[in-house]
Amino acid sequence: MKKDILSKIEERKITISVVGLGYVGLPLAIEFARSGIKVFGYDVDDKKVEQINKGISYVKDVSTDELRPLVEKGLISATNDSSILSQVNGIIVAVPTPLSKTKDPDLSYVIKAAHDVKSNLKKGHIVSFESTTYPGTTDEIILPLLEETGLVVGKDFFLAFSPERIDPGNKKYTVKNTPKLVGGVEPASTEVVSKLYTIALENVVPVSSSRVAEAAKLLENTFRSINIGLANEMAIMCNILGIDVWEVIEAAGTKPFGFMKFYPGPGIGGHCIPIDPIYLSWKLKTFNYTARFIETATDINSNMPRYVVSRIQDALNEKTKSLKGSRILVMGVAYKRDIDDVRESPILDVITLLEEKGATVEYTDPHVPWVDINGKLIESNMNPDYSSYDIVVIGTDHSTFDYNRIYREAPYIFDSRNALRNHGIKDTESKIVTL
Ligand SMILES: NC(=O)c1ccc[n+]([C@@H]2O[C@H](COP(=O)([O-])OP(=O)(O)OC[C@H]3O[C@@H](n4cnc5c(N)ncnc54)[C@H](O)[C@@H]3O)[C@@H](O)[C@H]2O)c1
Repeated sequence: MKKDILSKIEERKITISVVGLGYVGLPLAIEFARSGIKVFGYDVDDKKVEQINKGISYVKDVSTDELRPLVEKGLISATNDSSILSQVNGIIVAVPTPLSKTKDPDLSYVIKAAHDVKSNLKKGHIVSFESTTYPGTTDEIILPLLEETGLVVGKDFFLAFSPERIDPGNKKYTVKNTPKLVGGVEPASTEVVSKLYTIALENVVPVSSSRVAEAAKLLENTFRSINIGLANEMAIMCNILGIDVWEVIEAAGTKPFGFMKFYPGPGIGGHCIPIDPIYLSWKLKTFNYTARFIETATDINSNMPRYVVSRIQDALNEKTKSLKGSRILVMGVAYKRDIDDVRESPILDVITLLEEKGATVEYTDPHVPWVDINGKLIESNMNPDYSSYDIVVIGTDHSTFDYNRIYREAPYIFDSRNALRNHGIKDTESKIVTL
């Protein structure tokens, strides 16, 4: 069976299905289609299915110009019917792995997808799960479910975990040229699933097990969470000491070895960095072990919106103004520069806290025309009069903002990203307060 499958892959005589056509699934589907493989996307969201079949992209990293020709050539199509999985050779799952309300891993999407795979599993199937999760998910939960069919892994079908590392908005490292880890639940699975990815991706890195691949992804994102947490705490400590944290980071960054620059900000956001480390600490709790670094970083990072609001309050106080009754413009609500994703964005928390304290808040974000804050839909003011606010808060440092104009026109600015100085603006009028 393995030899057969490997030669089918070699000859490109295969089709695949990507389950979950979101920020991760769609760019991946595009790469396989570009390499000439027919991709049948499966998503439970009818709107996404309809848009893909019309050749319209809803993911910022994928342009409609890229997608449409692939749809027209019949290389990509989408459906909401899971039976498509029985008609392809490869199945790649990229569904969400969020946290529940009680901050526990919510594997319900992965389990639903695994049930769909199980109902359609056939001899020769190659299955890869990409959704970030804790070590053990693939061999403890997914494998037993799939083997309930009577099919045997490594003999009848192949199963691996291959974490997605895509960094939305990153032009240099895309899904194609970011090395792809593949860890099978047994050696033949590692070999076959790795081979599948080599069709579309430049660099596939096999590892010894699905658990190693799961843990590696969590280490990467925990590393980021902890280092951002350190930068955030450094900002708090430098403020107490009256030292400019941004200059400190640049100074430390001149060391050519043993140091990497991380920057403070209003907190962490997105579907990965705030969530993934908690998957790891949750798993360790089941072994009565407390993941202390993760807990500390999560605590510091999740308190940053509150800290930012206290600093805005202090800044207004300096001008003998109260936060209550102030008019505030928040610039940028996406969780990071030049993207449209507001999932877990800490700037939404900043806005909520400012409003709770009695400020009137508007926001502007060229990438986010409207946003839902606690069930209330707020529209972006796309043409704000900077001079009309008591303070302008830089929440996200989008590159399209006209920082010179903001500096000229706004009476007072709280810059949580050091964006104005990074754009060469010298604060000759002492109207910028940085984090
Ligand atoms: N967004 C990122 O930057 C990023 C980076 C690396 C890894 N990841 C991981 O990749 C996974 C997917 O994240 P995403 O950002 O693409 O999520 P997303 O919400 O953008 O996309 C997920 C898609 O899956 C669909 N879906 C949900 N349940 C389904 C089911 N049972 N069957 C079929 N379709 C289903 C949804 O409708 C949605 O279109 C997560 O585990 C995430 O942690 C995300």
